[in-house]
This record gives sequence, C-alpha cells and structure tokens, in this order.
Amino acid sequence: MAGTSPAMTMEVLSLAHDFPRDSTPALFLFALTSAGPLAEIDPMKTLLAYIGALAIIVAIAAAVFFFGGIYSVAGTTSETSMVAWALTHIRQASIERHASREGPQVAFNDAEVVRAGARAFSERGCVNCHGAPGVDWAKFAEGLRPDPPDLKEIANELAPQQMFWVIKNGINMTGMPSFGLIGVPDDEIWKIVAFIKKLPSVTEDDFKGWTASPAGH
Ligand code: HEC
Repeated sequence: MAGTSPAMTMEVLSLAHDFPRDSTPALFLFALTSAGPLAEIDPMKTLLAYIGALAIIVAIAAAVFFFGGIYSVAGTTSETSMVAWALTHIRQASIERHASREGPQVAFNDAEVVRAGARAFSERGCVNCHGAPGVDWAKFAEGLRPDPPDLKEIANELAPQQMFWVIKNGINMTGMPSFGLIGVPDDEIWKIVAFIKKLPSVTEDDFKGWTASPAGH
C-alpha cells in the first residue's frame, strides 16, 4: 500500500505498546492532533473542531427534545413568536417560489365565472373554515392552529397564481386541505380564485343569490 511501509507500521505499533494501558485516550488525542507538529495547531482547525462538536451536541439535544416527546404537538400550544415568524415566512417564500408564472386560465371579470366560483366555494366546504359574506365559519374552525384567514383580507395580498397553488396543493401540516388531491379540476379552482379576488366587494345578498340552489330550496 502506498505510503505505509511495514517499518512505519511497526513503529506506530511499538509506540502504542509503550503507552500504559489507561492512557489509550491520550494516545488517541495525540493521534488526532498530530497531523502536524503540536506547535503548529491551526486555530482555524481548532475552531472548526469546536463547531463540529457543538453541532453534534445540539443535534443530540434536539433529538431528545423531539423524539423524547418533550415537544408538545397540542393545537393549544402557541408557538413562540420566533417559530411563528419563521413558519409564516417559510410559507410565503414557498408559495411564491412554487406558484406558476402562467396567467389565470379564466376571465376574472366574467360575472358568470365569479358566480360559479362562489358556488364552488360554498359546495367544496371552504365556508366551514373561512366563512363568506353573511355566512359564519363553523365553530370548529376556531380550534384550528394556525387559524384560517379571512379571505377577503388576503384577496389583494396574494397573486391569483399563488391562491391557485395554495388551493390546489394545500398547506402542509395546517388545516388547509389540498383540493387537487381530491380531484377538483383546475378550471374550478381558477373560478374559486376569481371569486376570492372579488370578495372584498361581494355583499351578503350577492353571495346568497349566487349560491342559492336553482330549485329554490
Ligand atoms: C378545514 C379547514 C379549511 C378548509 C375546508 C379550507 N381551508 Fe383554506 N386555509 C385553512 C387554514 C388553517 C389556512 C392557513 C394556513 C396557514 O396559516 O399556513 C388556510 C389558508 C388558505 C389560503 C392562503 C392564505 C395565505 O395567506 O396564504 C387560501 C387562499 C385558502 N385557504 C383558500 C381556501 C379555499 C378556496 C378553500 C375551499 C376550496 C379552503 N381554503 C378550504 C383552512 C381551511
């Protein structure tokens, strides 16, 4: 083998042999640090070694915290503001990056499209969590953490493509379901987006009229 002559191996073995039994750790440390003469210990390497050791300790502590059941998954636990802040920003960044750049597939100003969107919004159950003009969200929605936002407040904050992406894919580990996963067609999701975009100006009567069943019951 290149680099390790039998003579060298013998030397190392006899060196190890010369150490008293209980000083094996010392020998080990010596071996670790003896890449160069001791006098030339590189401060950078020492720093990196400390950082490495710290990372291992943090990883073990985190494993105990999460897998040891210390972390509470209760919906009643409010996240620390730092975790909440991080989650909000991760969500925003993820939605922004994943949302398609392609424009909406339906005409947002077509009254019939908006009306169909309102019907879908009502029939697909969005109302239960988000409410709608003149319709309260279901009581259980108040037990969701994070809580479902009032969509007329975010209607102008999110681009149509971002809303489309959220409704189609859902938001992992929150109450927001993926409607793509249960087979809601893209076309229907776009109509819902058209409706949400109009939400700030939709009156209670509009919504009632749009979602009333044609048979009138
Ligand atoms: C079971 C409850 C539930 C249902 C049903 C539900 N949502 Fe949500 N939705 C949520 C929750 C909770 C959030 C917030 C998640 C978060 O904060 O990360 C959310 C977030 C959203 C957002 C993103 C808001 C933002 O600021 O990024 C949109 C848009 C949305 N929902 C639309 C809909 C539509 C449209 C439907 C029906 C097709 C629907 N939701 C059905 C619970 C629900």
